[in-house]
Amino acid sequence: MNPSEVALVTGAGSGIGKATAKMFADRGYGVVAVDLTPESLAWTAGEPDPSRYVTIAGSVTSESVNKEAVAAAVESFGRLDVSILNAGITGSRPWNEDGAIDALRRILDVNVVGVAIGINEAAAVMKKQGGGVILPTCSTSGLRGDPGSWAYNASKAAVINLVRAAALDLGPFGIRINGVAPGPTETGLTVRLNEMPELKRAMVNRIPLGRWGQPEDLAEVFYFLASPAASFITGDTIFCDGGISANAGHFALPERSR
Ligand SMILES: NC(=O)c1ccc[n+]([C@@H]2O[C@H](COP(=O)([O-])OP(=O)(O)OC[C@H]3O[C@@H](n4cnc5c(N)ncnc54)[C@H](O)[C@@H]3O)[C@@H](O)[C@H]2O)c1
Repeated sequence: MNPSEVALVTGAGSGIGKATAKMFADRGYGVVAVDLTPESLAWTAGEPDPSRYVTIAGSVTSESVNKEAVAAAVESFGRLDVSILNAGITGSRPWNEDGAIDALRRILDVNVVGVAIGINEAAAVMKKQGGGVILPTCSTSGLRGDPGSWAYNASKAAVINLVRAAALDLGPFGIRINGVAPGPTETGLTVRLNEMPELKRAMVNRIPLGRWGQPEDLAEVFYFLASPAASFITGDTIFCDGGISANAGHFALPERSR
């Protein structure tokens, strides 16, 4: 199989990464899907054309796993056009609780260092090719704070500015880098909120478009940013969040008209 374009997607075992990997493969890309375990990537074997996928099991915090994933793109499909650095974790612990700082280190390692390694490895091959697109997953939680979520908030704020700074360095090589920032989205990361329907409803009441995001909403933004239609966009982060980040939160939203 020799697809015309090739994408690498981390965190492809679930949620936004899985939907994005599927969308890119369904639209003609060869996809290198990365996640922690082979089991989490087994879904690729049941896809209409499994030859569109190569899977790599391992952690994005490892330089050798990132190198292996980029090499797999080149060896299996001939090149790497798009790297979607999407793997991320939550898990902040309350201030002064045992393990709070260990949790911070774990979160920064995956959400920030993992993304930086991914940029480093993708840029190495994209420089040789004369260009490419790198798309880390950010978050509305990188703009402001969430109660009890300080470590995650700090990590996602770091990614938004990492994207800006990397765009300055990589632009001269024809490499664009943009963030995609979800708001509340129904994925493995947020599934536990299904047991808290009141909280989930309260969150919807803060979203102007009146619903949670779906993984495919985000996949469409990645697809757009990877395309030539976005050829003059770099260093930016696109918020795909139903408008929640537009809300200063001072007043209740108007009653829904439908
Ligand atoms: N769901 C939301 O509401 C939401 C909101 C804002 C941002 N995000 C961000 O979206 C991204 C995707 O999350 P999701 O919501 O799809 O969650 P998810 O838990 O459904 O998927 C995340 C995937 O990343 C994988 N992963 C975790 N650590 C990894 C590591 N070290 N190496 C490789 N893979 C790893 C997990 O195994 C999982 O398959 C994350 O960066 C997350 O922070 C999600």
